[in-house]
Amino acid sequence: MPQVVELKDDKKEELIKLGRERIDWAGERMPVLFSLREELKGIEGMQIGACLHVTKETAVLMLALKSAGARVALCGSNPLSTQDDVALALVENGIDVYAWRGQSEEDYRKCVDAVLGKKPDITMDDGGDLTVRAHELGIRARGGTEETTTGVIRIKALSSQKGLLYPIMPVNDAYMKYLFDNRYGTGQSSIDGILRGTSILLAGKRFVVCGYGWVGRGIAMRARGMGSHVIVTEVDPIKALEAHMDGFEVMPILKAAEMGDIFITATGDKNVISGEGMERMKDNVFLANSGHFNVEVDVRHLIENGELVRKRNGIETYLINGRRINLLGEGRLVNLALAEGHPPEVMDMSFAVQALSVQYLNSGKKLEKKVLPVPRELDERVARGKLAAEGIEIDKLTEEQSKYLKSFE
Ligand code: ADE
Repeated sequence: MPQVVELKDDKKEELIKLGRERIDWAGERMPVLFSLREELKGIEGMQIGACLHVTKETAVLMLALKSAGARVALCGSNPLSTQDDVALALVENGIDVYAWRGQSEEDYRKCVDAVLGKKPDITMDDGGDLTVRAHELGIRARGGTEETTTGVIRIKALSSQKGLLYPIMPVNDAYMKYLFDNRYGTGQSSIDGILRGTSILLAGKRFVVCGYGWVGRGIAMRARGMGSHVIVTEVDPIKALEAHMDGFEVMPILKAAEMGDIFITATGDKNVISGEGMERMKDNVFLANSGHFNVEVDVRHLIENGELVRKRNGIETYLINGRRINLLGEGRLVNLALAEGHPPEVMDMSFAVQALSVQYLNSGKKLEKKVLPVPRELDERVARGKLAAEGIEIDKLTEEQSKYLKSFE
């Protein structure tokens, strides 16, 4: 099995150069992570096993960990999200990378196992595949981190049903992650994926967002900003009401199916866009997914009941009952399949939380083998670092004000 994509030498050199340039570009926009380099030194000699989208931003994190003295092995967290130039450039820089774009599910799993074969002290995961597999193999790491909503849900289920073999920090649940990465990161990068893939005009389109969590909110907000008429579908009454009062139309998916031009899922659950929904859709609609796994759109229904009439630029067009349905990025994460994922300014915060969490797990404290929330101080450190990097000053409570907040009279 190759570790990264195999290429002829001249093509490889070209890609390595491109990868290096893109990593530098991202690095210049990730000042908080950069500022942590010195204090990360405590992780010297540790083996880190990471399962993350192999992007230029992830590369900046991997190189920061390596420059702090850790050994790093990385596999992708999705078969379609790896940026091959970045993967090659990382290998040139001494990182063990097991990932290439478009790998089969089987190779993807082998790559996860290859990372675990390095016997990591820390697992750093995005989606839960690495952690769940580590538990199947009985690997007792010192600790682990989890980057995304779906992964945290899986780790919490694993913890309550079987127990954890080591402590895991849910990076996703830190304010400095979900408030920015999930909302503004996915909001922008999902629209970016749709536009790079389709080059359609968003103004005037009916844009259906399934799920109004932080990701759905970000996408709905940005789609509205581009002039789309946004419809939200939800199962949670509180989130549905919030979407309504945020000014979006709220309705059941089967009704929205008849009206939408563009559909995007951000729920974390399966078959949100079902065969029944597809059968009601207009001609020439677009289906995309922003959730971690490719389960939200019932792709099998399209394959089994439709005729594939075109495949171009990461988009498959199926003909169903004489109507065209355009599936973006095979129903996988549209922001990474058709674009470059979240911008570096956002990943700066998410990955600064990751780096500080690794340091926390390695601080020598006795930690319980459970899901350990990221401490508030750590969140605030990242926020202060980002504010400083953006040149923003804020106020401080006076002694009188602090005292007032602690009194009940
Ligand atoms: N998830 C979403 N965008 C990402 C990016 N740019 N790098 C790593 N993981 C991501």
